Amino acid sequence: MSDRIFYVNGSFVPESEAKISVLDRGFLFADGVYEVSAVIDGQLIDNAAHLARLERSLQELDMQAPCSPEEIERIQQRLITENKLVEGVIYLQVTRGAADRDFGFPEHAEPSLVMFTQVKRIVDNPVMDKGIRVISVEDIRWKRRDIKTVGLLAPVLAKQEAKTRGADDAWMVEDGFVTEGSSNNAFIVTAEGTIVTRRLGNEILHGITRHVVLELAAKNDLKVEERNFTIEEAQSAEEAFVTSASLFVMPVVEIDGKRLGTGEPGPLVRQLRDLYLAFARRGL
Ligand code: PDD
Repeated sequence: MSDRIFYVNGSFVPESEAKISVLDRGFLFADGVYEVSAVIDGQLIDNAAHLARLERSLQELDMQAPCSPEEIERIQQRLITENKLVEGVIYLQVTRGAADRDFGFPEHAEPSLVMFTQVKRIVDNPVMDKGIRVISVEDIRWKRRDIKTVGLLAPVLAKQEAKTRGADDAWMVEDGFVTEGSSNNAFIVTAEGTIVTRRLGNEILHGITRHVVLELAAKNDLKVEERNFTIEEAQSAEEAFVTSASLFVMPVVEIDGKRLGTGEPGPLVRQLRDLYLAFARRGL
């Protein structure tokens, strides 16, 4: 058991006391939403954007917020302090609360709020030098992937299939086009140096890291196209990468067994990663 302090519905407690009801709707129905914010040098990265997306997820599901975004940030800060977190992530989850099992919304239930920290090497991630290998899998998720729900069985199965097949992660494919990675947004770089990623819609999560990376690309006169792409196009791309709060910008060097370019992380992904790291330390 870890020696971390967890936050559970108003209390800061050790893991052994961090408990939630078996009737919690997050547990019974995956009736909950979540966010993952990065922490570098003890500072939350782009947290306001994560909390804004949390608000949106809650609204889309007609779910009550447990408290204000300001209060959530205060709890996050306290967890950073209590756990002496220098680099890693803070996970936060809101559910519709605990009520006797019934599919319809409960009339009297307080939303649950749970948060915890995880140590992770993000800046000097050892995987960065090698990049990751991905496989493609069918995207079997529901149709509202823009909502960051805790219903994550499809990505769990996708990631496990990747592991079983000796890869690092999976890109999900729907109607012949890549939607996104199991827990990250997917990008390719064409021979002309254009950064290509799927446009926003209900088919993918509106990644906070994706948004900043596209802004940084535009500011640095890099060409960006938001459009669909296939696994075949990705396999013949110059470079590829994924973005997320816990990876920032991570090169993809192999797709379904096909090496991209030299098989090493390319120059554009390195540039974008450096730009993102500078943003994380100083802001836009
Ligand atoms: N995942 N797409 C999916 C399906 C995701 O789950 C995530 C994040 C992203 C990237 O979004 P952002 O840049 O806002 O982190 C895209 C988090 C990190 C997770 O589930 O652990």
